[in-house]
Amino acid sequence: MNANDPQDPLLLDHEVDGIRELDNNLPRWWVWLFNLSIAFAAVYLVYYHAMGAGDLMAAEYRKESEAGERVKSVALARFEGELGQMKPLSDAVALAQGQATFKTLCAPCHREDAGGLVGPNLTDTYWIHGSNFVDNLKTIWNGVPEKGMVTWKGVLKPQDIHNVASYIYTLRGTQPPNPKPAENTVQAPTGPSQFE
Ligand code: HEC
Repeated sequence: MNANDPQDPLLLDHEVDGIRELDNNLPRWWVWLFNLSIAFAAVYLVYYHAMGAGDLMAAEYRKESEAGERVKSVALARFEGELGQMKPLSDAVALAQGQATFKTLCAPCHREDAGGLVGPNLTDTYWIHGSNFVDNLKTIWNGVPEKGMVTWKGVLKPQDIHNVASYIYTLRGTQPPNPKPAENTVQAPTGPSQFE
């Protein structure tokens, strides 16, 4: 048995291969923490599960999503209201962002230089859905799903749509090599009427 201290009251009397168990008392603060966590679990169970008084994770997530959707639809509606008066942006940051968007999202169909691929050439004077800047904005916003042009409303932020439309506006008349032939005969008006 324990040769060192056979009287130690904390030592339990079983032994395996010389290893013995010390029955130390738990510190009071620890026991209270343990009791409190049991009490907390009971309150939690009754409040959230028995009474259903608080929102569980799924409900909280749904409420947050709905709040987010409301913010988003306000932003979309505001943009839709202002769209008709919008002008192409010319500041370098907006155009650089528009260019980045174009390269990743639009170039697969319109080609990196906008000369046309699946989608039409965006650099010539022929347009299918109208030639002025607002026509372009509307086409990007609403898309032409039946013809394969993506509806970007709600996918891209309104500001990104304004930026990318402004970027492609700068590509007008750039004459890229081997452009896609014109798909319509509506000529773009030149001069300030483009902004109508
Ligand atoms: C999946 C292919 C595809 C992608 C991606 C795409 N487009 Fe298009 N786009 C088209 C097609 C196809 C048309 C022609 C629709 C038609 O014939 O009515 C079109 C038409 C347009 C038009 C109108 C051209 C006209 O002649 O009136 C604009 C402007 C335009 N796209 C801009 C964009 C921009 C900006 C993006 C990226 C944010 C983009 N497109 C991404 C396929 C695409």
